[in-house]
Amino acid sequence: GYPGVSGPKGDLGPKGMKGDPGVVGERGLPGQGTTGATGPKGDQGDMGMTGMPGPCSPTVQSTFSAALLTSFPQPSRPVPFKRVIYNLNLHYNPDNGVYTAPVNGTYVFSYHLQVSTRMLKVGLFHNFEAVVRTTTPVEMNTASQQVVLSLSQGDWVWVQVKDITTNGMYTGSEASSTFSGFLLYPDRCDDMFGRDYTEKSFPDQDIPFGGP
Ligand SMILES: *[C@@H]1O[C@H](CO)[C@@H](O)[C@H](O)[C@H]1NC(C)=O
Repeated sequence: GYPGVSGPKGDLGPKGMKGDPGVVGERGLPGQGTTGATGPKGDQGDMGMTGMPGPCSPTVQSTFSAALLTSFPQPSRPVPFKRVIYNLNLHYNPDNGVYTAPVNGTYVFSYHLQVSTRMLKVGLFHNFEAVVRTTTPVEMNTASQQVVLSLSQGDWVWVQVKDITTNGMYTGSEASSTFSGFLLYPDRCDDMFGRDYTEKSFPDQDIPFGGP
């Protein structure tokens, strides 16, 4: 006999199983891109807090201390403390007992007065007005005050006794009466010493104890 003709193509066989993953390759070398262009400037930051004021070294210096040379000074006018202990820049006048403020600023004044023989009524004056006063009994007392004042350039400050019967202001070999003052700080740091400063001449007249 003869061999028969070829049969039809068989059906597609079943799908094979998934193969195992391949081995990870070696890491490549890093790339070499060029540097990018500079970015735009950032916005300005918020304003910082105000700093502490810097150190102010006053260009004006003014301070004095003076003591009484003669007991029982004339009343109703500035007491001249004639023995100058210290008088930096000479704003205190020992001839008439008047201190003249060289600049606008804050000042400190004090008096420490020995009292003997009579009582003492005394005051610290600022431009003809008593700012503080002291009254003491008769014998061996101390009259004292300290005040802080805001003064304008050219203002006057002095110590004044009320009248002749209340004038126990005393000085002796074992007892001093003093008047002192100083500029604590000027209103403005940039005030130059002596600028626009011309000392007014203090009127040579009696000044009532109470002032206006
Ligand atoms: C000082 O103070 C007075 C007011 O008390 C003012 O008129 C004057 O301008 C001040 N002077 C200076 C130099 O600041």
